[in-house]
Amino acid sequence: MKYATSAILLTVGLLLSDASQAEGLRETVLRKAAIDAGLMPAEETQRAVAPEVAAVGKLIFETRKLSLEHEVACASCHIDRFGSADGLPNAIGTEGRGQGIERLLGGGDIIPRNVLPLWGRGGKGFDVFFWDGRVEATADGVHSQFAGGEPSDDPLTVAVHLPPVEIGEMVLNSAGNEKLQGESVESATEVFTLLAERLSNDADIGPKLSGAMGVEREKIRFLHVAQALAAFIRDNFRLKATRFHQFVFSGGSLSNAEIAGGLLFYGKARCSTCHNGPYFTNMEFHAVPFPQVGFGKNGFGTDYGRYNVTLDVDDLYKFRTPPLYNVTKTAPYSHSGSVFTLEAAIRAHTDPLYEYVGSLANDAQRANFYEQLRRWATEPLFGIHLSDEEIANLVAFLSTLEFASDAAIKEGE
Ligand code: HEC
Ligand code: HEC
Repeated sequence: MKYATSAILLTVGLLLSDASQAEGLRETVLRKAAIDAGLMPAEETQRAVAPEVAAVGKLIFETRKLSLEHEVACASCHIDRFGSADGLPNAIGTEGRGQGIERLLGGGDIIPRNVLPLWGRGGKGFDVFFWDGRVEATADGVHSQFAGGEPSDDPLTVAVHLPPVEIGEMVLNSAGNEKLQGESVESATEVFTLLAERLSNDADIGPKLSGAMGVEREKIRFLHVAQALAAFIRDNFRLKATRFHQFVFSGGSLSNAEIAGGLLFYGKARCSTCHNGPYFTNMEFHAVPFPQVGFGKNGFGTDYGRYNVTLDVDDLYKFRTPPLYNVTKTAPYSHSGSVFTLEAAIRAHTDPLYEYVGSLANDAQRANFYEQLRRWATEPLFGIHLSDEEIANLVAFLSTLEFASDAAIKEGE
């Protein structure tokens, strides 16, 4: 998704240079910049789902029966309390127990990526999934490891097929499951068949899934399971209006710091060159030099990102621009979960050496970091300087992207 960013920057610049003190002008500029960058009312992103399908999808999302050895549920890692993520740097799958710190200290198989929250993931135009975009819908169809045999033309339905066959995520890392290593579609199909049979025979889920999908119990396939999961995500995690939506579309107000942060976001700090559109992501891949600490998808201290999908060296260390809804609740940040505050996440974009301690990295990690920096140097971020106050204002702005209805719940805590 491309928006006329330079035009927006120019408008913001011109209007501010002249009469920046004029009452209301800053608000007007911010509203216009947001709309020009693709923001739309939350309801306009939503897609209708059948409530009975979403309801059975919720049961499936919450059950460990969807894990081959009954180890974990989707809800073990996508947890309400952590804004549909898990509050940990890297996810802990099979053999993990508990939530938060308890899970971290308890051991278990590590998924070397930070959990992504699920908001907006079933909405209109949300069609690139996972940090590296390994499921993606383009004009010529859905692309994924199913390599032409995609089970659905809905990318979310394809995406939810992956966790139940991912070693260490929902399938035990054991000798018997080795065949699933290397993303073999054949071995995955065996697991799908077994899980579909298990749920179809389940006294609670079986009849409900059959009724909701309108198929006989013995004809339930994994595709029906995935469609129910997708319907639940589409419904439960739909975008809701934030304070920023209320400000842009229905005359709500923001604090001075929030407005200053918003003007930076769409102006000088250039955040909206990548974080744009209705989800605050262009659905494209960029190199932001977040440190890669600990485990990585490509070995200790290494994650090649988008390169893993395309094998194009230009894509090394690039990751899908993440959406920013409720980002105040989903620390730690980035694909590697290496930074713990929003201040540090923003600083990593523009001042990556600020916290980098070269002597704590090994030579291979330093070599990776130099490569990350080389790619970052061609991104629109390079050369932007942000003061501490500007970073604080940006953080204030990001807090306006919490769902307004959830914020009300938080107050009562
Ligand atoms: C062990 C923890 C764990 C479990 C269990 C788990 N997930 Fe996730 N989920 C993750 C992580 C980590 C990511 C990011 C992985 C990546 O991008 O490489 C993720 C990403 C996703 C995404 C992509 C979101 C986006 O922004 O593109 C979806 C959709 C998703 N999970 C749905 C599910 C569903 C449905 C289940 C159950 C079938 C499930 N997850 C089970 C950890 C987990
Ligand atoms: C060049 C494109 C680009 C620009 C410009 C950009 N970002 Fe990002 N942003 C990304 C990418 C890509 C990531 C994820 C990188 C990774 O995980 O390695 C990210 C991550 C983030 C995160 C962490 C989100 C999470 O869920 O982990 C925040 C917060 C964020 N950006 C805010 C901002 C702000 C504020 C600005 C403006 C100062 C900005 N970004 C500018 C591409 C960009």
